Amino acid sequence: MINRHDLPNFAENYLVIEPLERSETIPSTWYTAPNVLNLENECIFSAFWQYAGHLAQVENPGDYFLTTVADNPVVVVRDKDNLLRAFYNVCRHRGGPLATKDGNCKVFQCQYHGWTYLLDGSLRGVPDFDRVELFDKKDYGLTPIHVDVWEGLIFVNLSKSPPKLHSFFDGIPERISPIRLAEKKFYKRVEYRVQCNWKVYVDNYLEGYHLPFVHPELCKMLDYAQYVTEAFPHYSLQFSPFTDQNNVYQDNDGQAFYYCVFPNFMLNILPGRLQTNSVIPISHDVTRVVFDYFYDDISSQKARQIAEDDMRYSDLIQLEDIDICEHVQKGLSSKAYHRGRFSVKRELGVYHFQSLLKETFRKFL
Ligand code: FES
Ligand SMILES: [Fe+2]
Repeated sequence: MINRHDLPNFAENYLVIEPLERSETIPSTWYTAPNVLNLENECIFSAFWQYAGHLAQVENPGDYFLTTVADNPVVVVRDKDNLLRAFYNVCRHRGGPLATKDGNCKVFQCQYHGWTYLLDGSLRGVPDFDRVELFDKKDYGLTPIHVDVWEGLIFVNLSKSPPKLHSFFDGIPERISPIRLAEKKFYKRVEYRVQCNWKVYVDNYLEGYHLPFVHPELCKMLDYAQYVTEAFPHYSLQFSPFTDQNNVYQDNDGQAFYYCVFPNFMLNILPGRLQTNSVIPISHDVTRVVFDYFYDDISSQKARQIAEDDMRYSDLIQLEDIDICEHVQKGLSSKAYHRGRFSVKRELGVYHFQSLLKETFRKFL
């Protein structure tokens, strides 16, 4: 358990939420001190729903895939009765892994000494254990984890009694209608490794203030003057109409919706496509970002070509963001920087994220 007194970075005044007009940004030590991530793993990544993958990864009974949540190895599996389940990917004997890569199986067999578990998590086979006393297999099933699905996207939650997953997305399906995310088809996953704290990446995502400087090309496609941010209880939305020039998207009277669901999940909805981003800390200054791309149509060669063009373009934007985030991490770590301020017009999303962060820390500490 983490104690406030071990955390000099959590002085009371850092946790106060001031109005946007007066607020300072969170202190630089929250981005640079290794012990802050221990706290975040407990009160954020273990407490909030975390994106794990999508339904196409577990279409058939026995299909399973691996993920990591707050440094915990997790397996998501479709059991033989078609039920979606999630467990810690940790054998109850001496902590071995049930699986080390995605696959399909009838039972899980631990890779260390071969204990076997049914897909409902119950322990079945225990080789060479005859003379062990006071041992009941019923007490050594896999440790289950909450799992739920929203619009075809699978989330897991490590806490004992999490709030309902769907409540975090309240209002999104109505807002983006007639777009229906569940109908989009998974195309590809791309991962990035970024040398910055996970919050640097999220902060950067949450404002369009940097568009003219970091993404001049993208900026020409979006109507920057009309770019709006709105804050909701669990997420913020940035959206912008496209200008009709230089638009790589076919349907250029569509809009772009950029949702960031607290703490670390994004839905980037553009005409014909959904891109999800999941921002996962590896350490206090290294972050893995997982992009899953879904499209309305991936069946024809032409449709796949459009998808490839979209991905290539998105990759260029990513590299621009990664470059600036890595510089910002260095700036935050420097002796020069402690706290900054927000543009009221352009940085509501960052303020909203940092306020939710403070609120979460306050409840926990
Ligand atoms: S750790 Fe799994 S069988 Fe030993
Ligand atoms: Fe950006």
